[in-house]
Amino acid sequence: MVKALIKIAVKAQKGDCLSVAGDLLAVGVFSDASAKSLVKILDRKLSGGIEKIKKLGDFEAKPGSSCLLYAEGRLGARRLLLLGLGKRKKVTADVLRKAAALAATKAVGLKAKSVLLSLHTDIPGSAKLDSVRIGQTLAEGACFGAYRYDEYLTDKNHKRPANFKVLIVDSDAAVVAKLRKGVSAGVVTGLAQNFARTIANRPANVINPVTLAAEAKKLAKRISFLRCTVLDDKQLKQKKMGGILAVGQGSATPPRLIVLHYTPASATKKTPTIGLVGKAVTFDSGGISLKPGAGMHDMKFDKSGGIAVLGAMDAIARLKPKCRVYGLIPAAENMPSGVSYRPGDIVTTYSGKTIEIQNTDAEGRMILCDAITYAENLGCKSIVDIATLTGACVVALGQKRAGLMSNDDKLVARLKKASDRTGERLWHLPCDDEFVEEMKSKIADLKNLGGKWGGACTAAAFLSQFVDKAQWAHIDMAGVGVWGAGENDAPGSIGFGVRLLTAFAMNYK
Ligand code: BES
Ligand code: ZN
Ligand code: ZN
Repeated sequence: MVKALIKIAVKAQKGDCLSVAGDLLAVGVFSDASAKSLVKILDRKLSGGIEKIKKLGDFEAKPGSSCLLYAEGRLGARRLLLLGLGKRKKVTADVLRKAAALAATKAVGLKAKSVLLSLHTDIPGSAKLDSVRIGQTLAEGACFGAYRYDEYLTDKNHKRPANFKVLIVDSDAAVVAKLRKGVSAGVVTGLAQNFARTIANRPANVINPVTLAAEAKKLAKRISFLRCTVLDDKQLKQKKMGGILAVGQGSATPPRLIVLHYTPASATKKTPTIGLVGKAVTFDSGGISLKPGAGMHDMKFDKSGGIAVLGAMDAIARLKPKCRVYGLIPAAENMPSGVSYRPGDIVTTYSGKTIEIQNTDAEGRMILCDAITYAENLGCKSIVDIATLTGACVVALGQKRAGLMSNDDKLVARLKKASDRTGERLWHLPCDDEFVEEMKSKIADLKNLGGKWGGACTAAAFLSQFVDKAQWAHIDMAGVGVWGAGENDAPGSIGFGVRLLTAFAMNYK
């Protein structure tokens, strides 16, 4: 029996955090807290209890640290959670987002139904974080931290509340108004990201190309500015999308191309159009070039790029940027069978370019190339694709940065700006003609496998060959989308890319 996931609500409200009743009050603490800061007031209320803990060395107020205290009737809330924010002048949106996430994680772990957040009161003016931005960041963090993927746990004794409320309080009405504005945007991206995490976390026996397309249709039905059409296998054949068809042909579930479309109410002929393209391989066994067994279960996450696009389209259609946005999700399952595509096959892609298949496990580029051509045909002037594309990118950059390759420096700058704002980090890598050379075949226009080295760059170089006039960028998120089991309370997808792509679209002019 599939259960509903935790319901999360975030609000900003006028009030005094010391007296508002609740399960948990979470307060931000700078290591160089000023004499007037909230934590000093709290310390006096608790008869020096906080200073004692600091003296013992049990709480140093470093980013990522926390300490739980019991209020013993001296506060409106029953419990007090101190959250380290580091040095005042070094505070960033990322530090705040992570602290809010930690507060929500701890609160849900304590089965608290609500958390009162006061992380913003002592932030120095030099940090350049206005209250709108702070509200958004805190809401995003709180949504992120409260998330649990437990829809398949049948034990009735949930180790978490069914509903979870986050209250951001401030005594100044003008500040509350700004916080509220930020919170309303932050909740949209935060919940879109959690929606993406849920779809990504669902296993391949639940999410396949057909059910993923159904989820996209359901999403579009919920939002008035979003449309969804789906190209089924028949239509893919009519259009000669040989790449998507080749990858999908070995599976019992046929491939799909999901097309989401957001149009602003004020759209004219001059409204710019951007395309977000995401790889959704609902399971990557490697196909005939079968992967080794160890860790193969994690290849249910090989749809994460497509789902980043799905989540971003959810947020975009609610936040309503001024540009037109297409979200294109080529979806296929890469399986070995008697009807699978094979090493040695020559595949004609939607662009007309032919590809010699040298490894069926290099399937992501085969579905992306058709979708990129489709995006350009739709009139997209900027195209950003996102994919769990190569193990080589994980070797190169590890698990904290996604690779960014592009044919246009302005687009790189836009994406870096979105990355700085959202904390979803990118690292620029090359994909120029030297890498394209490695992807040339003697018997077809291109091959799908490069040499031994620089696999993230050769994969991107392959994709670059399907772009004609558009500005194009590729994000390789193979290393960054998933948190390991056991290390935290919400193992699985982190919904990487939702915040980044949303911010990119919101600031596109
Ligand atoms: N989905 C994988 C890439 C991947 C690896 C994602 C590790 C997440 C974690 C992709 O389809 C793949 O198998 N790539 C091959 C390409 C190679 C055959 C050129 C790889 O990276 O080994
Ligand atoms: Zn693969
Ligand atoms: Zn793959």
